[in-house]
Amino acid sequence: MSVLVIVGAQWGDEGKGKVVDRFAAHADVVVRFMGGNNAGHTLVVGNEKTVVHLIPAGVLHPQTICVLGNGVVIDPKVLCEEVEGLQKRGYLTDPAQLRIDERAHLILPIHRMLDQARERSLGERSLGTTGRGIGPAYEDKAARRGLRVIDLFDEKYFREGVERIVAERGLVLEKLYGGTAPTADAICEEYAVYRDRLGPYVTDTSSLVADKIAAGRRVLFEGAQAAMLDIDHGTYPFVTSSNTVAGAVGTGAGVAPRHIGRVLGISKSYTTRVGAGPFPTELEGGVGAKLREVGGEFGATTGRPRRCGWFDAVVVRQAARLSGLSGLAITKLDVLSGIHPLKIAVAYDCEGVRYDRVPSGVRSLARARPIYEELDGWDEDLGAARRVEDLPAAARRYVSRIEELIGTPVTLISVGAEREETILLRDPFLL
Ligand code: IMP
Repeated sequence: MSVLVIVGAQWGDEGKGKVVDRFAAHADVVVRFMGGNNAGHTLVVGNEKTVVHLIPAGVLHPQTICVLGNGVVIDPKVLCEEVEGLQKRGYLTDPAQLRIDERAHLILPIHRMLDQARERSLGERSLGTTGRGIGPAYEDKAARRGLRVIDLFDEKYFREGVERIVAERGLVLEKLYGGTAPTADAICEEYAVYRDRLGPYVTDTSSLVADKIAAGRRVLFEGAQAAMLDIDHGTYPFVTSSNTVAGAVGTGAGVAPRHIGRVLGISKSYTTRVGAGPFPTELEGGVGAKLREVGGEFGATTGRPRRCGWFDAVVVRQAARLSGLSGLAITKLDVLSGIHPLKIAVAYDCEGVRYDRVPSGVRSLARARPIYEELDGWDEDLGAARRVEDLPAAARRYVSRIEELIGTPVTLISVGAEREETILLRDPFLL
């Protein structure tokens, strides 16, 4: 089977971009199936850094078709900027390289305003969203008043839809949060420009992807965020507004489940989280600060410092079960050099009860105390390792302990941000 799904196994920012970029070189199509520009991938090629938020990380390979599936929420302003930015650097010169699904929902300026106003009004109880309007856009989708990419091409329908959204959501923005809603006229005028710019990329991507799969082409599905941010299976309510587990490929790209075979999960060699919500293995100060500094743990989308902590096998094991991981990629192993000893959470103690899975109640999770196992650290710089045998024995032991605890083979180890700074154990397309 030539279909591979790549998903985050923690709370996001695991380095999916680098892994997708690497396998996109061997893929005919890379598809995003959920989330929006709350994601952010930093791609490093040579001395050049490229950050993409919406367009799949495969975009740097000119022969790879990049698809934004129906499950993605699209902010057309951001998408236009991203397209232009990439084109200026010589990428995405052929419009056929980017395909945007007709059924994908649009983020409107009022969604961004609502997201930010709501977060401000929640004060200390805020979720720490990215403020990009993701939640309010999915809310309108579920409320059946959302506008989709296809609607841009029916002026009358689009205008009526915008008027309805502005009337309903504007009331909340103004009366509840003291904001000022944009007028329907202003939105329609702005979005007519995006319609013209994005028109050449719009199509029915579900049938395009089906045709590619039927033809035996290599199709890679690029997840955004991660298992613990899944709206159903994550640490609700501190989650994003879509499903992030591998099953979301079915609905978010219009692909039947029987086509989904291999799933590669991505996990850092430690844990990070941005935004609010429980994080059992979080380390404040000391090792946590070192991980943030050495690992460059600041958000690609918002620049926020990430919370850092020990590797949590409970979380990654749960992610492996939820997405049926056939392989695990461990990123940023190099960041752990010089930390002694290393710790891995193998279970939680929740008020005297041992938990081998993530408790469902957010308050129980907040009170969970990790049960740690200690492992020897190492001092060597790992950046030059290209084979497992190049790693110090303690680093090999650390990786194989993770493998045992998660019950999933480690197929890739990343030892730096560059494309080449990777140890590939198995081709995930062939798992
Ligand atoms: P939203 O997706 O902007 O609504 O944010 C909801 C939660 O998901 C917040 O805690 C965000 O910090 C988190 N989040 C959203 N996207 C990402 C991501 O790409 N990486 C890490 N955290 C994310």
